[in-house]
Amino acid sequence: MAAQTIAIATHKGGTGKTVTAMAVGAAFARAGQRCLLVDMDPQGHSTLGLGMEIDDTAPTLRDFFHEPPLPLSRVIRETHIAGLHIVPSNIRLARVAQALYMRPKREEILKRGLQPLRDQYAFIVLDCPPSLSALAEAGIAAANLIVIPCQMEARAADGLVDLLEVISLINDHESGGDGVACTLGKQDL
Ligand SMILES: Nc1ncnc2c1ncn2[C@@H]1O[C@H](COP(=O)(O)OP(=O)(O)OP(=O)(O)O)[C@@H](O)[C@H]1O
Ligand SMILES: [Mg+2]
Repeated sequence: MAAQTIAIATHKGGTGKTVTAMAVGAAFARAGQRCLLVDMDPQGHSTLGLGMEIDDTAPTLRDFFHEPPLPLSRVIRETHIAGLHIVPSNIRLARVAQALYMRPKREEILKRGLQPLRDQYAFIVLDCPPSLSALAEAGIAAANLIVIPCQMEARAADGLVDLLEVISLINDHESGGDGVACTLGKQDL
């Protein structure tokens, strides 16, 4: 069965995206569900959080977005948790993220790259960066489900409008896609 792809996303910083992505990924793996965690943040926090050591020669998500691209299958690494694999990232992702803006149908690049992997995993979890950048768009477009960690504060809730607008635009642009479901806490929007 094809993997469910879950983006943990919001442009607000420090809301718990990375801890959620790592905890959910580890929980799936420990329940016997193979899981791929994709670190989409140039800060590389889930890569660091899982104890991965990435030197300048190690393939990362940057090499998939680079031209010519390296297939994601060549970037994946095992973690210390059985059944949890990671596509690691580091600050080198920041530069290719800028170049993404120039690429046609940029929001479809990751979705297409993940397609051959969807039979190998039960879940793919995308730890998105704290922005509404091309990288965040790519994560949102690749997902079946979006989880938005959000503090229960007025300003935080106000900011959701912009994110929901991006999700809506991506849904509108998808031709023949299923669209994404969006979850705020436990409440479907
Ligand atoms: N459930 C929690 N209980 C206590 N602290 C938490 C919890 N979830 C996250 N934190 C803390 O909140 C901080 C931010 O968490 P995290 O790095 O996951 O946020 P983030 O949204 O990924 O940040 P960024 O936007 O920079 O990517 C961290 O210091 C983390 O330890
Ligand atoms: Mg993070």
